[in-house]
Amino acid sequence: MKRRVMIVAVLAIVVGALPAIAIGLPSMPSSAFPSSDGCGCHAALLEQWRPSMHAQALTDPLYLHKLAEGDAATNGAVTPFCLQCHSPIGVMAGEVTALDHSGASATAAEGVSCSYCHHVTGTNDPIGNASHQVSPEDIRRAQLTDAQAPHAWEYSQYHETAEFCGACHNVNHPANGTHLEATYTEWKASPYAAEGITCQDCHMTPGTGVTKPNPGVAAGGGPEREHIYTMTFTGANVALGDAAAAEANLKAAATLELEVPEIVASGDVAVKTTITNVGAGHYLPTGLTEVRQMWLEVVATDESGDELLRERRDFGTVLKGADGSYPVEMWDAVGIQSDDRIPPRESTSNDYAFAMGTGPVTVTATLYYRSAPEEMAEAAGVDVPTTTMASASKTVYVSAEQKEGAVSPDDGTADDAGEDTGIDVLLIVGIVAAAVAVAAVAYLLLKKGKKA
Ligand code: HEC
Ligand code: HEC
Ligand code: HEC
Ligand code: HEC
Repeated sequence: MKRRVMIVAVLAIVVGALPAIAIGLPSMPSSAFPSSDGCGCHAALLEQWRPSMHAQALTDPLYLHKLAEGDAATNGAVTPFCLQCHSPIGVMAGEVTALDHSGASATAAEGVSCSYCHHVTGTNDPIGNASHQVSPEDIRRAQLTDAQAPHAWEYSQYHETAEFCGACHNVNHPANGTHLEATYTEWKASPYAAEGITCQDCHMTPGTGVTKPNPGVAAGGGPEREHIYTMTFTGANVALGDAAAAEANLKAAATLELEVPEIVASGDVAVKTTITNVGAGHYLPTGLTEVRQMWLEVVATDESGDELLRERRDFGTVLKGADGSYPVEMWDAVGIQSDDRIPPRESTSNDYAFAMGTGPVTVTATLYYRSAPEEMAEAAGVDVPTTTMASASKTVYVSAEQKEGAVSPDDGTADDAGEDTGIDVLLIVGIVAAAVAVAAVAYLLLKKGKKA
């Protein structure tokens, strides 16, 4: 406990900020936590968890890159704070205390593992900064009330709540409380919370959206249940997580509507885009929003490929430093300079305009997402792809005639059609004539043969 208070105090001095916010998981040995390999009875759940970001939380190269930057910038002061959620067992066991985590036991190296989550018993207030209560006893807790397990188990209502996830999915600056990540708080204020749709309903079920019920067995040989959760925790990380599932999530998150008049003889063409957060139970984007990139690109191109319009709008947060400068890194943040994101089930619109050319002009709007900027990805040695979340395209014409001409080329070309038919008729006539000729020759030959 003393060690932690000291860390917070050092941080407060380093960042020169306000009273410290308590952080702290209890201390306990890593031997209290069975390794995930030992959860083989839940073979299907184990296979779901392995590619998840939870399983990679301590080894993730993007995380390690940022951690190293923070470690260097704060002379190691911020590091113990970061480790809490990315290596909860390592921190509790005192095996992961600094940038170098080579002292981590195999269980601690598993990041956010089966036994960590299933040893959690409750929460401390306020929710966030690893506010979990954890028990060293090997009693596995989840939502089942009738488990038939070879190990000790207990029903936990807490595991059914978004607060369970919020303990790590709300990150506040340890020295000044700036809300660095607020996924839980965003969800809490959303219609999903009011409707009782939890993080688990979207992130621990198969496919996109709320796919409940999901019938199945929780363990090999266990009873068939009306609904079981999956340990997939798919988010948006196409680079390091389950790429196909993350991509499907991103595509299900937003709709993009493009409004453009069909015919504009001359002058300005008005373009309107509307993005709606239809699928995410929190802001879009959420989580590490000063790193994540989501942007709308609107481009208008004429037939010769010349661009008449190119606009970009970025969605995300910008962190502000003590001297008012921005953007700053999370450890230097004392507040949020700007926050341009889309709340759950809400929309955001933009109006653009360009001068009409000779037409036709194609207008395309595309919403993109990347887990990390190119420079960061490159520095971390990770190939981070750009995902298209949604796109829409429309064409503007100078006149109805131009549109007609462009839309159905066959209709306006009667001459060609006539020629085609002519060729066909000639061909048929030719074939018939040839057939008659062959028949005639054959008849003559036959007659001749009979005579002989
Ligand atoms: C991030 C925390 C977390 C991790 C990691 C995790 N679980 Fe779970 N697990 C949960 C929660 C939360 C529930 C209950 C969800 C609810 O009721 O809303 C659950 C439910 C379960 C259940 C009950 C049956 C079911 O599927 O609904 C079993 C069994 C289980 N988990 C096993 C595992 C195993 C095995 C692993 C590792 C391979 C694992 N869990 C990893 C949080 C986690
Ligand atoms: C012990 C802390 C902890 C708990 C509890 C926890 N998470 Fe996480 N979660 C993390 C960390 C850390 C990461 C990021 C790992 C990384 O990318 O390196 C993460 C990543 C994720 C991602 C992937 C994000 C992406 O970019 O793809 C999803 C989805 C997610 N968590 C959902 C949940 C849900 C749902 C719950 C509750 C059932 C939960 N988490 C509970 C710490 C936690
Ligand atoms: C209605 C379904 C839904 C609910 C409820 C929901 N999410 Fe999500 N979540 C999504 C979708 C879709 C995405 C992918 C789009 C995006 O990145 O926001 C996502 C993305 C994420 C990400 C990755 C964000 C990123 O860009 O790195 C995390 C982390 C996450 N969710 C955690 C949570 C947590 C924690 C909760 C509960 C407090 C929660 N989600 C509730 C649907 C949901
Ligand atoms: C209170 C828990 C918590 C603490 C403390 C924490 N993180 Fe995280 N971290 C998370 C969660 C949850 C996510 C996933 C959010 C998302 O997907 O956007 C995450 C994701 C990340 C990612 C993105 C990884 C990827 O693959 O995209 C990086 C980088 C990161 N954290 C670095 C840090 C650093 C550096 C610190 C210390 C300054 C830190 N974290 C402290 C919970 C935490």
